[in-house]
Amino acid sequence: MRKLMRSIKGFPSNTLVLALVCFFWIPSLSQQPTTFTSITPGGVWPADDGKHIDCHAGNIIYSAQSKRYYWFGEHRGSPGGVACYSSADLYNWKNEGLAMQKGAIAVLERPKVAYNTTTKKYVLWFHYDNGGYGLAHLGVASSDSVRGPYTLVDHFLPNGHQSRDMGMYCDDNGKVYIIYAADPTNVTIRIVELTSDYLNVTTNDVDIQAHCEGPGMLKINGVYYLITSKCSGWTPNQATYYTATSVTGPFTSKGDPCVGDTNHTTFNSQPCNIFQIPGYSNGFMYMGDRWNGVGSANSQYVFLPITITSTGAMQIKWAASWTPSSVFTPSSVKEKNVYDFKQAVFGNAVNRTVLRAFDLLGRSLSLNYPRDPHNYSNRLSNPMRSFP
Ligand code: GAL
Repeated sequence: MRKLMRSIKGFPSNTLVLALVCFFWIPSLSQQPTTFTSITPGGVWPADDGKHIDCHAGNIIYSAQSKRYYWFGEHRGSPGGVACYSSADLYNWKNEGLAMQKGAIAVLERPKVAYNTTTKKYVLWFHYDNGGYGLAHLGVASSDSVRGPYTLVDHFLPNGHQSRDMGMYCDDNGKVYIIYAADPTNVTIRIVELTSDYLNVTTNDVDIQAHCEGPGMLKINGVYYLITSKCSGWTPNQATYYTATSVTGPFTSKGDPCVGDTNHTTFNSQPCNIFQIPGYSNGFMYMGDRWNGVGSANSQYVFLPITITSTGAMQIKWAASWTPSSVFTPSSVKEKNVYDFKQAVFGNAVNRTVLRAFDLLGRSLSLNYPRDPHNYSNRLSNPMRSFP
């Protein structure tokens, strides 16, 4: 090295060392995990690779085994396909790479994944189309691993109907439904129940009297809430929500759920899913895409808390920065926190045993619980200080 530096005539050696350090150090810094402590809708949201998350119009599932969230969505950069990111806290995401390559599929949009506990397969449904959106098929793929690779199983018109924008709803009884913008050209919304292996559609396929695109659903106290957008391409419009006492409707329109959305554009976003955050009672998160009129890889995410008021109204309010614990009431906090704490912080059997013994000595970790079960640094502070 010294020889090399001496040979570069007139170049100060300190400067060269600094340049080399920067060359090797700065790229490795960009691979560092991020340190976000909240969800900040609408901004640039880098993952651990230092790049803005490219995972649009998808859904999130939570693995109780690995205690991680897996977020799937359209990877609109090249090569295209279905992106997979994972996170322990919903704020900081690791790019897990493409779960499925788009390959020869001209349009692969709105991917959604469900896990089948009987077959132990991850099943991916999406809008499968040709370049002119004239095919209007549902596509289905599956994988033995959450991160993929997912292999295409089939694509078709569900029960003979067109299907473009689609969402997925997983009911508590294990049944999974695809909610799809149907015929004629996105005018109706239908819901179809999947077979028990989630790999095909059944004939339980109903026009639920709703319109038009971007469907997402939740259930609370036996009432199903459906949110949709109107049909205006990559330009945002005013959302509508509907309610019904059966998943197959009929649904009744209840108007715009957004409060304080002065431009009536769903806070400049289009819905794609509603995610129920585990560990909270009724911790529903609106997931929307801010396409900015073009639908590029750089499109942003508008993730906001959903509230169902005491009179049963759905409300979505803007929050520039929020955490689930600042909005929702934790449920089963004790078990969940202890389990997550061990998993996330120690991650090996030796330390887990030590922590369990520490617990048995009578020191109640619950005394020190912070409110946010997803904030590991916060959760660490007190128990670690008293750790022997
Ligand atoms: C939107 C739809 C998107 C995409 C886009 C194409 O209306 O929600 O998923 O299909 O049109 O222009």
